[in-house]
Amino acid sequence: MFTNETLQGRVALITGGGTGIGLEIATTYARLGASVMLVGRNEERVQAAAAAITQEGGKAQAMRADVRNYDDVKAAVDATVEKFGALDILVNNAAGNFVCPTAELSPNGWRTVIDIDLNGTFYGCHAAYPHLKTSTFGGSIISIITMLGVTGWPGAAHASAAKGGILSLSRTLAVEWGGDGIRVNTISPGPIGDTEGVQRMYIDAGKGDLEARKTALGRFGRKADIANAAVYLGSDLGSYVTGDNIIVDGGRWLKYVAG
Ligand code: COA
Repeated sequence: MFTNETLQGRVALITGGGTGIGLEIATTYARLGASVMLVGRNEERVQAAAAAITQEGGKAQAMRADVRNYDDVKAAVDATVEKFGALDILVNNAAGNFVCPTAELSPNGWRTVIDIDLNGTFYGCHAAYPHLKTSTFGGSIISIITMLGVTGWPGAAHASAAKGGILSLSRTLAVEWGGDGIRVNTISPGPIGDTEGVQRMYIDAGKGDLEARKTALGRFGRKADIANAAVYLGSDLGSYVTGDNIIVDGGRWLKYVAG
């Protein structure tokens, strides 16, 4: 198990940190000693999330930012460094998605998801780079994707293309920025039962059991499973790991490939 020293002294910025997997990562990081900046489009939500972390003794700040806007992202990075004195870990977690057959998807619908997921991740990496480079721990970038970005995702071509793009971007940056001591990795969650996305796209749609059976383990994961992987990658535990994609999906993609 991790100790409460595992992330001691580190500063992390988490996009989409107000809810779901992003909030779980932020809360876990704070419990393990990190200072966390939560960023999201909904100011009230990120402020409330940061207050809850502070309430339980963690160090947290929050700021409104839309990851589609580079100036917003840069301002959030600058505010993090101003408040906490450094930036050691960037978690690109913010995402947008909806199910829509590609033939019916409008160009603006396509652009919206690419903007949030792929462009937002690039903006985060780009704005954070000068600070990650000077991190005393060695910088760490962690982006949340999905193996559906590798296998293809019928009904969500925009999200699939964006997530595949993030994987490629991350591998590129792992090599470009390895000499700066920055590690760049992705995490591919499978269906995480206690998230809004799985609730809306699977459970509410009456496909909960079917989707759980698609995993090798036959069940949904928990947000904590993803936070644990993010702790590993953000801490010294993963200090020689870069350019990797940690798959935390209960064996879903392998079962998909195995047929
Ligand atoms: N089916 C088809 N098209 C859709 C759609 C859907 N379910 N939802 C949005 N779009 C299209 C819109 O029609 C619009 O295109 P248009 O101008 O050609 O009509 C475009 O996408 C942008 O939609 P808009 O609602 O203006 O964007 P937004 O910035 O307010 O929100 C999302 C974009 C992706 C965040 C929004 O769809 C959303 O709230 N999704 C659910 C929450 C979510 O994604 N959570 C992430 C966990 S997976």
